[in-house]
Amino acid sequence: ASVLAPNMSSCQLPQHFPSGQEPYDCCAPPAYYEPRLFRPTGGGSLLRVRRPAHAADDAYSAKLARAYTLMKALPADDPRSFSQQANIHCAYCNNVYRQMNSTQPFQVHNTWLFFPFHRWYIYFHERILARLLGDDPNFALAFWNYDHPDGASIPWLFSINSSAVHPVLSAGVLRDSNHEYPATVALDYGVDTDIRPRPVQLQENDNTMYRALIRDAHDRAAFFGWPYRQDDPPMEGFGFGTIEWQPHNTIHSWVGNKSAIGWQHMGALFSSGHDPLFYSHHAEIDRFWELWKALPDHEDFDDEDYQNAEFLFYNEDAELVRVRAGDASNTSLLGYVYEEVETPWVGAVP
Ligand code: C2O
Repeated sequence: ASVLAPNMSSCQLPQHFPSGQEPYDCCAPPAYYEPRLFRPTGGGSLLRVRRPAHAADDAYSAKLARAYTLMKALPADDPRSFSQQANIHCAYCNNVYRQMNSTQPFQVHNTWLFFPFHRWYIYFHERILARLLGDDPNFALAFWNYDHPDGASIPWLFSINSSAVHPVLSAGVLRDSNHEYPATVALDYGVDTDIRPRPVQLQENDNTMYRALIRDAHDRAAFFGWPYRQDDPPMEGFGFGTIEWQPHNTIHSWVGNKSAIGWQHMGALFSSGHDPLFYSHHAEIDRFWELWKALPDHEDFDDEDYQNAEFLFYNEDAELVRVRAGDASNTSLLGYVYEEVETPWVGAVP
């Protein structure tokens, strides 16, 4: 059977907080109605186009900063407020909810729910930002294009170094200061990556992409992660797909401050949603899912337990809705596409 939408009344204090970090309640605000099933329909002819963040202009950067300013100004118990948006990651990743009809926690990481969960998460996040901009029909998240040499640093608009211009996009965020713009991102972040010359690191980045999206990702379980069905316990340390492992996890660790409690913000599951860069990182991960599916004979799982798995999110109207993993398959139905950009790593056979 599928993992069904979490039982929200089962919400409890998070588990696995790093030592030194006081656990806090990251349950979503309660809803006193049965959430309806929301199914994407395409919603009009206009598609939002997600573009590379490094190529963003001042106007986009100002718009994004304005949207986050408004989001941070919402009352703390509004499910669309920035802290509540960040708490979604804590809730689905630190065993806060039980699965419906089960005593097992709901854990989306290291499983085949990794891609669809995060797609839905940033879908609603994008819709809420657009709503705050007065229902801007063109607003889209920008993806952190770190698989391309031109995007291989923290995008300037999210950088603490440009915080004089748009403080809201990096204010209060904990990051590794050595990795701020224009440091070269290490998609295979590890002990020796900080001392590599840029050209060497860019080559390693290409090889990492080639392995994660092509060489090691030929079958579905390898790419998406392992099946996760009702009553399955959380998978810790195994079950992740190729992309989830690298560059996804490595980018989290590379951005976060390893000297802060639990490697905050991006380096810990409970806190990563507190860095606005998280949503741009996940737009890139989401784009990799599209790139993988564009390869010949690559398809999503048709297993019903995958298709019918469910999540709960608050939408732009602050209404709690239920969504299915299988309904995340087609981004055009969700109203957005990715701008096509070069993928130089396609030929980077390690
Ligand atoms: Cu839910 Cu980037 O992790």
